[in-house]
Amino acid sequence: MKHTKIIELLKSTNLPAGQAGFDKEVTVNGWVRSRRGGKSVAFIAVNDGSTIHTIQVVADIAKFGEENLKEVTTGACISATGKLVKSQGQGQAVEIQAEKISVLGAANPETYPLQKKGHSLEFLRDIAHLRPRTNTFGAILRLRNHISFAIHKFFNDRGYFYIHTPIITGSDAEGAGEMFHVTNFDLEKIPRTPEGKIDFEKDFFGKQTNLTVSGQLESELGAMGIGLAYTFGPTFRAENSNTPRHLAEFWMIEPEMAFHDINDNMDVAESMLKFVISYVLELCKDDLSFLCEHYDKELLNRLNIVVNATFKRITYTEAIDLLEKSGKKFEFPVSWGIDMQREHETFLVEHFNVPVIVTNYPKDIKAFYMKQNNDGKTVRGMDVLFPYVGEIIGGSQREEIYDKLYQRMKEMNIPEKELWWYLETRKFGTCPHSGFGLGLERLVLFITGMTNVRDVIPFPRTPKNAEF
Ligand code: 4AD
Ligand code: MG
Repeated sequence: MKHTKIIELLKSTNLPAGQAGFDKEVTVNGWVRSRRGGKSVAFIAVNDGSTIHTIQVVADIAKFGEENLKEVTTGACISATGKLVKSQGQGQAVEIQAEKISVLGAANPETYPLQKKGHSLEFLRDIAHLRPRTNTFGAILRLRNHISFAIHKFFNDRGYFYIHTPIITGSDAEGAGEMFHVTNFDLEKIPRTPEGKIDFEKDFFGKQTNLTVSGQLESELGAMGIGLAYTFGPTFRAENSNTPRHLAEFWMIEPEMAFHDINDNMDVAESMLKFVISYVLELCKDDLSFLCEHYDKELLNRLNIVVNATFKRITYTEAIDLLEKSGKKFEFPVSWGIDMQREHETFLVEHFNVPVIVTNYPKDIKAFYMKQNNDGKTVRGMDVLFPYVGEIIGGSQREEIYDKLYQRMKEMNIPEKELWWYLETRKFGTCPHSGFGLGLERLVLFITGMTNVRDVIPFPRTPKNAEF
């Protein structure tokens, strides 16, 4: 269908009247956001998703006949052809003087749920199939796209290779046991062994499998051959955390880099985050301004602060010290060895007023693969803590010494049978390497100023919710 995107039509605004773009016949296809006017003219605001802005289609009612315009109501999909002219009215620079309007899909005003402006975000979650048609969600979807693209661009420009790691796996990369099973057993008739255990040998893959919680381990295998690898895919966690920051299905970006130590790792994480935020600040001005104006007046400010900040780097021990000396009464008491809670992370970020990277965590609260320090107590892990969202990245230098890794796996009951291949990279041509995982939704949350991850992924999966 020949038509011009609204984003292109609105660019004609910059041209003087009578010049290219103006007085040309154009066709616009899109959804009616509103219809105003009286008996003689109808002003129809149309949006096609290419931009947050609408274009005004002006229809002479006498010319079309009232009857022929009766289905031009909020929510209907129309195709309008006419001359693009300088607008007579206030609020827009150009408009279309309609010659022809066809309704591609009507939307009964009695039942169309998006009638008025200003629906709550909670209400929109229940109609996630229609929320892409709102200004807010349109802005979020466009931003999410540009953020994803900027991430690929950051890595591609620096010689990283995108590696597609498996979604179905037999291992538990984080060792936390929060996995969704994958099976094609008839659940009413699960085969059992003579001992009464589930007979996974009879299952589709001949072994127990699950949806991956992280692409890291396979991303590491890539890095040990192509040097700089990253994976960007969906990950799944059956953790029953009903919080505004947790999803059961979320997208993770996991670079894995040979010949990078923990400091190099922090450098990459910091420059990637700044690159992505600068990229959308430049490219997505209209969408960001809309979100700033309607949801969070501090949004643009916060984004600029992060782009210009030098992230504060402190050790876990220093962080605990600070928390203890703060004199603040935390809900979760602070002592060396605790897994920091949201309130502790918030304190640290507010204290320094820039993103904070915490390193050298106690080994007992971190995964088996992290590089062990010589003190026997800590590992070379790193968490990047952001204002507003808390932990946005988790990563580490990896343990590259076979014996140390093997011993840690034994201590933590990580089944060698499932990870023999991971161990082999340490047996053959091992090297120092590092990597991290960025939670895409946490970054989109930060950039859009939304307060719930359910509002930054098209169709959220959370406990008791897998609609759409
Ligand atoms: O800290 P996590 O669990 O680290 C890993 O999975 C490592 N394998 C990453 C690596 O080193 N390659 O998760 C990494 C990030 C978190 O910092 C957070 O941003 C996000 O993933 N994340 C979640 N986002 C939404 N919902 C959840 N349930 C999340 N769990 C983690
Ligand atoms: Mg983490």
